[in-house]
Amino acid sequence: MEIFRTFEHMKLVFATANPGKIREAQEILGEGFELVTPASLGITEDIPETGSTLRENSRQKADYIYNKTGLDCFADDSGLEVDLLDGAPGVETARYAGADKNPQANIAKLLREMGGREPRTARFRTCVTLIINGGYHYFDGVMEGSIGYVCKGEGGFGYDPIFTPEGYDRTNAELGEEEKNAISHRGKALRAMAAYLKK
Ligand code: IMP
Repeated sequence: MEIFRTFEHMKLVFATANPGKIREAQEILGEGFELVTPASLGITEDIPETGSTLRENSRQKADYIYNKTGLDCFADDSGLEVDLLDGAPGVETARYAGADKNPQANIAKLLREMGGREPRTARFRTCVTLIINGGYHYFDGVMEGSIGYVCKGEGGFGYDPIFTPEGYDRTNAELGEEEKNAISHRGKALRAMAAYLKK
């Protein structure tokens, strides 16, 4: 597999199987970057993520691709930190209510753990690990907000129906994809990476 990098064009493997993430990252990075999926390189197994922090997990996923392919690549890992729960679910966000990563069960567990208590402040955080020419670079993005008491809205995914970004009166699930991406944790981390790559 040949990697090529010029001032006009750069290939990067994005360690995800999620087409929504690929689309968002491609939009943010723009035409000068060609994103390659692990699947297109024959990597179809689940990439392990057993770290105890978001950064460790993102690094583990990027390392997995780099060790297999030697190609420039990046990986992201995100989580929800709820102040009332001392930062939980954090690195456990996807599997909060069980290994099957069920979003409804996760939301139900979070609302149960929080009960009627306040404050409801929380944040989504994304850590990105980028490996370029064997060097490691890290980018973070945060979206501050608060957790509601009931689900609102049909859009988005995961915890979006109960998360209202700071300064908004609609949940993430009530914002359009474009509006959410403009303020999202992942959008911020990817834009920070894009700014670095374009330097
Ligand atoms: P991942 O690392 O991007 O797969 O995110 C881990 C988990 O965090 C997901 O399974 C979702 O439950 C949750 N999550 C991450 N980003 C978002 C978001 O933008 N909205 C709602 N939930 C999210």
